[in-house]
Amino acid sequence: MLGRYILKTFGIYNMDFRLNEDQLAVKEAARDFAQNELKPGVIERDSSMTYPTDQVKAMGDLGFLGMMVDPKYGGSGMDTISYVLAMEELSKVDNSCSVIVSVQNSLVCWGLEQFGTEEQKQKYLTRLTSGEWIGAFCLSEPEAGSDATSQRTTAEDKGDHYLLNGTKNWITSGGTSKLHLVVAQTDKEKGHRGINVFIVETDWDGVDIGAKEDKLGIRSSDTHTIMYSNVKVPKENRIGEDGFGFKFAMKVLSGGRIGIAAQALGIAQGAYELAVAYSKEREAFGKPIAEHQAIAFKLARMASDIEAARMLVYRAAWLKDTGQDYAMASAMAKLKASDAAMKHTVEAVQIHGGYGFVKEYHVERLMRDAKITQIYEGTTEIQQIVISRSILKGQLELPIE
Ligand code: CAA
Repeated sequence: MLGRYILKTFGIYNMDFRLNEDQLAVKEAARDFAQNELKPGVIERDSSMTYPTDQVKAMGDLGFLGMMVDPKYGGSGMDTISYVLAMEELSKVDNSCSVIVSVQNSLVCWGLEQFGTEEQKQKYLTRLTSGEWIGAFCLSEPEAGSDATSQRTTAEDKGDHYLLNGTKNWITSGGTSKLHLVVAQTDKEKGHRGINVFIVETDWDGVDIGAKEDKLGIRSSDTHTIMYSNVKVPKENRIGEDGFGFKFAMKVLSGGRIGIAAQALGIAQGAYELAVAYSKEREAFGKPIAEHQAIAFKLARMASDIEAARMLVYRAAWLKDTGQDYAMASAMAKLKASDAAMKHTVEAVQIHGGYGFVKEYHVERLMRDAKITQIYEGTTEIQQIVISRSILKGQLELPIE
């Protein structure tokens, strides 16, 4: 009785792992779409590196391309948890589609909505949320990947406009996007405080798209090098105060890492579900292989690691939704979920044996897709820098209020 009183008084009963009805509905809609609309052609699109044009259009129509944006800009006005649930379901099946969703939502739309001017939002956000325009986030360069402050792309102040010059690498949606958020150095002397971000329309003079990369995974998403040569960018297309660009990139990436962590979670869950189904059907030595301890213990490890990652991913999303600091949490979520995805897609292939090595069974694709989650939006090593710096600043655990 006293225990119950203390628990109530201190609000411990408030800890609630249940999803609400809206969140459950989003999860179900994303699952239906992934299983019915994405799965049928996913192997062929992956093999032929075919961009999922129809599928992206359908995702725009369903509201997956502006999930967290205010409805007044055409968004779906959902919380980050709903976004994570949708990412998880899409990523069980098609990670070329889910990375497009992640970049569009977390890096482009969220950044514009949080830090853009009203004019910028009116002009650009509505086109992005409907899916009429796809956006790209152009930070990485041939010599500035993890070391994001070493930007060589420059934007020279010419009075009423900037003149943009430089090259960006590995840009997701590089070939199909109509809008780029481009990070550029405007004053080298000032280091990271001399960096700005600009909204660039891709049909402006001087924007050139390089060849599509032939990748290990997420093969039907279009990843390109982009060249900017004397691109005239109007002053009003700079985001935020002069010198805000690096902080913009860091803030946007903190949220982006939640999206990629959810992608990794979906990959791991997808591979695990395939492994469970296969191991209950496939027989060896007179019984289903799931009944052999060697396989059953693998499934137990998979389930436990995936649940641990899920808690971190949902926790990071909840911290963001409740206005708390989530930089450390999103780095932890991405670190653990991407490691789980890599480790357990390899295990899922192993459980499938020879079938796991052929495309028809889907797990080999998930294994190839898993690798990128340990690389983009900050490598595994960068996540450890972010986490360890937070620890050394005194943050020993994640907020729980
Ligand atoms: N939020 C707000 N501000 C932040 C921040 C955050 N999360 N992280 C850092 N900052 C601020 C710091 O406070 C500091 O500001 P002050 O000087 O005013 O105090 C400033 O930014 C510089 O910070 P650091 O000194 O920590 O910078 P650093 O040079 O040591 O770099 C880093 C830090 C974490 C390593 C960073 O460079 C980084 O995240 N690198 C990885 C880049 C990355 O993720 N690239 C992914 C490419 S995008 C992509 O992959 C998209 C796609 O296509 C899928």
